[in-house]
Amino acid sequence: MSLVVIGAQWGDEGKGKITDFLAEGADVVVRYQGGNNAGHTVIANDKKYKLHLIPSGILYDDKLCIIGNGVVIDPKALLDEIEYLKNEGIRVDNKKLLISDRAHVIMPYHKKIDALSEKKRGSKDIGTTGKGIGPCYTDKHERTGIRICDLLNKEVFYEKLKTNLEVKNRLIREIYEDEEMNFDEIYNTYIEYAEKLKDFITDTSVVLYDNIKEGKKVLFEGAQGTLLDIDYGTYPYVTSSHPIAGGVCIGSGIGPTMIDRVVGVCKAYTTRVGKGPFPTELFDEVGEYIREKGFEYGTTTGRARRCGWLDLVILKYAARISGLTSLAITKIDTLAGLEKIKVCTGYEFEGRVIDNFPASLEDLAKCKPIYEEFDGWDESIKDAKTYDDLPENAKRYLKFIEEYTGVRISIVSVGPERENTIVVG
Ligand code: GTP
Repeated sequence: MSLVVIGAQWGDEGKGKITDFLAEGADVVVRYQGGNNAGHTVIANDKKYKLHLIPSGILYDDKLCIIGNGVVIDPKALLDEIEYLKNEGIRVDNKKLLISDRAHVIMPYHKKIDALSEKKRGSKDIGTTGKGIGPCYTDKHERTGIRICDLLNKEVFYEKLKTNLEVKNRLIREIYEDEEMNFDEIYNTYIEYAEKLKDFITDTSVVLYDNIKEGKKVLFEGAQGTLLDIDYGTYPYVTSSHPIAGGVCIGSGIGPTMIDRVVGVCKAYTTRVGKGPFPTELFDEVGEYIREKGFEYGTTTGRARRCGWLDLVILKYAARISGLTSLAITKIDTLAGLEKIKVCTGYEFEGRVIDNFPASLEDLAKCKPIYEEFDGWDESIKDAKTYDDLPENAKRYLKFIEEYTGVRISIVSVGPERENTIVVG
C-alpha cells in the first residue's frame, strides 16, 4: 500500500504534522522532491522538531526513511540535520535512513549564484530561500550536475568539479562581479562529506520497489505545495521541482500504478510566502488575526506569511492535478473566534465567472474572488476528539469544502500536536 501526501496550496499547509501522523502506520517514508528549502515543524513526544531534508518518519524508531533521486541534497545541511536529530536522542543510521545515489548535490557555487542572481533581480526577485536549490536543478537539467554517486568516485568528482567550477567562476566574476571560489577547498570538503555519508547511499529505487512488492506501507512526503510546482504553480514564483503527486514517480523511481492513495493537505484558510498575485489575500485585521493566531511565519526563513480566505478554486485545481483521493484540513482551530468566515468559490474575470485556476499571472492578478459566507464559531476546538465534537458551524464549513471539491475529508487537524487530529470515517 502506498500513500502520497501533498500540499494543496502554496506550501506550509501543515504537511509535516499530517505526514508525522500518517507515518505511524507506515513502514517506509520517502521524500521525492525539493531540498532543505522545505521546513516541516513536527511536534512529537512533547518536543518541537524542525526538519528540512530528512523525512518526518525519522522521529519513529522503526521506520525506514528514504531521500529519493528527485531531492537535491546539500551534504552539509544533511549532516547537520543528522547531528541535530542525534543530539535530540533520535537514532539515525543506515537502517533508518537511505539516500539515493542518483540525487543531485548542492554545491557551494549553487548557493552563491542563488544569492547573487536574486540580488541582481532587484525588485523582481523570486523570493528564493538562497539555499542553492534552483541553481542545482538548473545544472541537473543542463546535464552538468554532480550526483551523489559522483561523490563516491574521487576521479569522477575531481573532473566534474573542475569543469563546473571553471564555468561558474567565470559567471561569478564576469556577470556578478564577485569573488571566485577555490577548487581545493570545495573538493576537500566534499570528499569529507562523502566519507561521512557513504554508508547511507544506495539505489533507493530498488529498495522501494522491493518494499512495495513485500506489501510494506510506503508514505511519500511532499514538500512545498501545488501552486509552487514548476509547471502547475504560479510561475515564476515557484520552486524548481514537482511537489504534485506526479512528482512521486520521477522523484523516487516507482511507476504510477504503485500509488494507491493521494491525500491533499489544505489549511482551513490560505497563506502565501513571497510575491505574486493572491486573490483571497486579506489586508485587514482579519488577515492579521489569522497570522497571529495561526503563527504564520516561515519555519526556515522566519518571513511573515501573507494570509487570506480559503480559495476553493485552488483546492479544486490541486484535486484535479494530483488526483486527490482525500483531504486533510489543517488549522481549523485558527479560525475560531471569527464572526464570519468566507470561502472563495470562483473568480470574476473580465466580466465573467471562472472556476479554473489560470496559467497567466497577469490574468490571476485581475481575478476578483467570489465568496460564500459562513457563520463562525467561538468554541475552542483544540480538544475535539471526534468529528461530532466539532461545532455545527465548523462542520457546515467542512461539508461545503467536500461538496465543492468532490473530495472527501479524511483528516481534520485541530492543533499542532499528534493528538489534535481527527480521523473522519
Ligand atoms: P512545507 O513543507 O515547508 O510547506 O511545511 P509544512 O506544510 O509542514 O508546514 P509548516 O511546518 O511550515 O507549518 C505548519 C505549522 O502549523 C507547524 O508549526 C505545525 O506545528 C502547525 N500545525 C499543523 N497543523 C496544525 C493545526 O491543525 N492547528 C494548529 N494550530 N497548528 C498546526
